[in-house]
Amino acid sequence: MAKIRTIFMLVTLGYVAADVPCARRQIEKKSVVCVCNATYCDEITRDDPAPGKYVAYTSSEAGSRFKKQEGEFTSYYKWNEGASHTIVIDLSKNKQSIQGFGGAVTDAAGIHWSNFSNPQLQDYLINSYFGKNGLEYNMLRVPIGGCDFSTHDYAYNELPWNDGQLTNYTLSPEDFIYKIPMIQQIKAAATSDVHIVATVWSPPKWMKTNEKPNGPSLIKEEFMQTYADYITKFIREYKKHDIDIWAVTTTNEPQDAFLPFTRFQDLGWTPGKMGQWIINNLGPTIKNSSDINHVKILTVDDQRITIPLWFNIMIEKHPEVLNWIDGIGVHWYTDKFSPAAILEAAVKNHPDKFILATEACEGSFPWQLEKVSLGDWSRAQSYIHSILEDLNYNLVGWIDWNLCLDKQGGPNWVKNFVDSPIIVFPENNEFVKQPMFYAMGHFSKWIPRGSVRLEVEEKKGLLEKSVDHVAVLTPKDTVVVVLHNTGNARNVRVQLCEEHTVIALEKASVTTLEFQAPSASSYNYNKIMNT
Ligand SMILES: *[C@@H]1O[C@H](CO)[C@@H](O)[C@H](O)[C@H]1NC(C)=O
Ligand SMILES: *[C@@H]1O[C@H](CO)[C@@H](O)[C@H](O)[C@H]1NC(C)=O
Ligand SMILES: *[C@@H]1O[C@H](CO)[C@@H](O)[C@H](O)[C@H]1NC(C)=O
Ligand SMILES: *[C@@H]1O[C@H](CO)[C@@H](O)[C@H](O)[C@H]1NC(C)=O
Repeated sequence: MAKIRTIFMLVTLGYVAADVPCARRQIEKKSVVCVCNATYCDEITRDDPAPGKYVAYTSSEAGSRFKKQEGEFTSYYKWNEGASHTIVIDLSKNKQSIQGFGGAVTDAAGIHWSNFSNPQLQDYLINSYFGKNGLEYNMLRVPIGGCDFSTHDYAYNELPWNDGQLTNYTLSPEDFIYKIPMIQQIKAAATSDVHIVATVWSPPKWMKTNEKPNGPSLIKEEFMQTYADYITKFIREYKKHDIDIWAVTTTNEPQDAFLPFTRFQDLGWTPGKMGQWIINNLGPTIKNSSDINHVKILTVDDQRITIPLWFNIMIEKHPEVLNWIDGIGVHWYTDKFSPAAILEAAVKNHPDKFILATEACEGSFPWQLEKVSLGDWSRAQSYIHSILEDLNYNLVGWIDWNLCLDKQGGPNWVKNFVDSPIIVFPENNEFVKQPMFYAMGHFSKWIPRGSVRLEVEEKKGLLEKSVDHVAVLTPKDTVVVVLHNTGNARNVRVQLCEEHTVIALEKASVTTLEFQAPSASSYNYNKIMNT
């Protein structure tokens, strides 16, 4: 008996020691944030699910953060479990393959990360996102030159003026001091290859018709090739620092150049001109090179409402664009005003192209007076809602915006302050992980690259609110299901083949469930034994 108790204690202790719980700080009228300082930061380990069992992880408005729970699948249906709601997973219908999840190394993020006086705190921040006991992010976006989340406006090769050969192209101090060191540490911490998407907000002013960083502009006709070279030079400069760029986008949010209220760097395009530039300049410069021909080209990189402009109309005018591009990047800011079906329409006829969400953040709208809203569960819910919708519309991944910001939501040279999953408090030598951080993790940690989305059928009573969900089959031969409960506590049945389980979902919560796929385990054996 004593022996059994010892073993039991060892197992339990091992279990507890593996996860470092959230150091909770309750925010008044909101949810909790988890505080990391120079000696403490919460961690989460992924447990391998045993055959016939699941491991579930829950985060909730009430304050759970990756709360672990185990349960069993059975081959007989228990009618008394009170679950009128069933999520039926179909292993035979495979959808898109997943690239990954991540955030952006902006100047702002790099400034905060490098400003932590304690190296342990720097490590905690990177490991929280990329490490084995963190969210295991595997994607990044990095601006080529400056963007609004810089302390000033800049581009490379600003002088000499009209330097079509880019004879004075050097990276900026921001690259050397903040972005490159941060990305190198990220690469060292990450559990898989980090796929980096690089994007220009604005080239140097002399390449643009308005000769300004922002406002209505197009690229000057004589600098179409120069602009393509401007992008490829960046890829080669980063390569010198052992940083591979996985994809470039065709320019950040070209629509901004035509909006009267845009204060930050932009570059406008017409669909026709962009098509020409891709066919004559950007496409061949990358794909016909011998050293960077593997780099993917993503177009749009703007709100999904603009897909008709930067994709449909462009390829109608210039069908050859399809020979050069690999996919589409979309931002989430106008999702409320454009149905997700626009995503389906875009690639329906182009099954070899993919869609990736390349930017999202909370607090960006003028009516969101609180730019940083500490502990706000509703902001986690917007992330979860968007990721679930995007995955169910065949997107291959989701990249968040700034990896960290300060309590004002900056720095940002045009005061376009927004929220971030991690907010830093250098004066206290700490940073806090917001509900949005855990929202990202419910996907990024359990849906590794190469996972394939599965078809799911939701069976429920006519008047019942649905539980938003997604299911994937991972390369580890496990099935992962993410369930988003926006209402009161409820039970949901998860069914795969003839196996069932009922899981209790907390009020206002997100739960990630992982279990072995039937073919990979003694599951089949159990099934035979049970019949
Ligand atoms: C760091 O956080 C831990 C856990 O919350 C706490 O016990 C410790 O006192 C903190 N250290 C400092 C210097 O604030
Ligand atoms: C090259 O760029 C630097 C700034 O990076 C500038 O100071 C210098 O004047 C430029 N050289 C020429 C010849 O314009
Ligand atoms: C790019 O390479 C292809 C085949 O390798 C060739 O047919 C085409 O002419 C090249 N295009 C340019 C613009 O160099
Ligand atoms: C850097 O950290 C110090 C505290 O260590 C803080 O006072 C200062 O504001 C921080 N700088 C920036 C740019 O955030």
